[in-house]
Amino acid sequence: MSEQFDVVIIGGGPGGYVCAVRCGQLGLKTAIVEKRGKLGGTCLNVGCIPSKALLHSSHAFEGAAHHYASFGVETSGVKLNLEKMMANKDEVVDGLTKGIEFLMKKNKVTYIKGTGAFTGAGKLNVTADDGSVTEIEYKNAVIATGSEVAPLGDIVIDEEKIVSSTGALALKSVPKSMVVIGAGVIGLELGSVWRRLGAEVTVVEYLERITPGVDLEIAKTLQKSLTKQGFKFELGKKVTSAVADKKGVKLTYEPAAGGDATEMNVDVVLVAVGRRPYTTGLGLETIGVEKDARGFVPNHHWKTNVDGVYVIGDATTGPMLAHKAEEEGVAVAEIIAGKAGHVDFNNIPGVIYTNPEVAGVGKTEEELKTAGIEYKVGKFPFMANSRARANGEADGLVKILEDKNTLKILGVHMIGTGVGEIIGEAGLAIAFGASAEDIARTCHAHPTMSEAVKEAAMAVDGWAIHI
Ligand code: FAD
Ligand code: NAI
Repeated sequence: MSEQFDVVIIGGGPGGYVCAVRCGQLGLKTAIVEKRGKLGGTCLNVGCIPSKALLHSSHAFEGAAHHYASFGVETSGVKLNLEKMMANKDEVVDGLTKGIEFLMKKNKVTYIKGTGAFTGAGKLNVTADDGSVTEIEYKNAVIATGSEVAPLGDIVIDEEKIVSSTGALALKSVPKSMVVIGAGVIGLELGSVWRRLGAEVTVVEYLERITPGVDLEIAKTLQKSLTKQGFKFELGKKVTSAVADKKGVKLTYEPAAGGDATEMNVDVVLVAVGRRPYTTGLGLETIGVEKDARGFVPNHHWKTNVDGVYVIGDATTGPMLAHKAEEEGVAVAEIIAGKAGHVDFNNIPGVIYTNPEVAGVGKTEEELKTAGIEYKVGKFPFMANSRARANGEADGLVKILEDKNTLKILGVHMIGTGVGEIIGEAGLAIAFGASAEDIARTCHAHPTMSEAVKEAAMAVDGWAIHI
């Protein structure tokens, strides 16, 4: 007889496993189904965490090799041990995946390894790698199957010379030259890793700007910083072909609107033009769950069109971010348990972990202009922040956008070293409906980078002290 569960979650990424923990906390009999053999999903296995491990290590390498001497730490013979760097990354990932398995046990969640597929209303089969099938029955199902790399035309990703983010996290040697297709989050983060380790990196981007969706002033500042670091940008260009051969990759690109083509030979090409929902092969059609033209499962408060079937994370609409998936996981667990699950989609931060980092929450200036909302702006540069100067990390600024009429903060955007750690303050302010003056009159520790947030808030009403 098949085992029955209150909730079965398909996919063990940050959406799925967080949902499982919350279901367990709420006393629901819960199962989580994951096919990759490890919990943690894209984020932990081939996304957020391995990329941040490599960003951290490559930053340390570049600092020791090129920058520490400027503040009196002289190093010589700095050598890259790429194998060790990769092993450290793998160790971090392994440790964290085991931690998630422990959380499943702690919260009495049954972890079933294999591929889940709906077989009928309230029924799901899980097929393990050895072909054995476990049949389960559920009252509620949560689709948390995430996303996969979006392909580009007929370019063949071999994960060695033409790589996706997954291959770029595991290159065996530092390429002399790398072309990144797409100036989005993955392209700039992983491009940074390999540039710091010695690659010449050229980014080919279709649009006339980098990082679409990021406040334009902040994006332009980031582009300047990355250019100073050695990145080359080909904006308004589209790659028309990339073919791997014995030597490397022959790549052709041309102006987005058409025109003369440029050919180049490079060692490695990273395709980073976005991700698409992974919603095939799980029997959605069997139970009648609808998908949109791009494969996303639409939702109304995370409910699909089929009763008792929910969807969260990258598999549905909204930003493809781990923390968005986690928030949704908690909300759905609470809704299933009869509570009021809620996520404020106006208050989901985004961080790009380059150096300087980019962090933003709420509306951008462009969005406010388009919506015709009257706003006030306060800005403060890290050049005038004593901690940033002491650290030799004075690139960047904080910008606060406040509604001219309601005096509520609508958006906060930053670029600077480590600002991903500061953006939480801005999210909290938005959650509590704070005005810029609320932040301006909150005592911030000195000397900290976060004082720039206070000063930007003061600048909204023209009384910043240090500029
Ligand atoms: P996923 O993490 O994709 O997990 C879904 C899981 O479902 C997978 O493990 C998959 O194997 C499993 N699955 C799919 N179908 C089935 C099935 N039929 N049966 C069983 N299991 C199934 N986001 C951030 O917020 N911050 C970052 O710094 C960040 N960095 C990233 C870096 C890279 C290189 C990449 C690629 C992504 C990054 N992201 C980051 C995005 C983040 O990884 C995703 O938004 C997040 O993982 C989505 O979570 P999820 O739970 O919806 O899906
Ligand atoms: P992205 O959507 O961030 O960027 C893709 C870029 O490619 C865009 O600038 C787009 O204009 C460009 N592009 C699209 N087609 C192109 C073409 N044919 N030629 C040239 N350029 C083209 O996607 P990315 O970087 O692949 O990341 C995927 C997802 O992963 C993102 O949605 C992001 O949210 C998530 N992610 C988040 C991270 C974070 O939070 N720090 C880190 C890495 C990924």
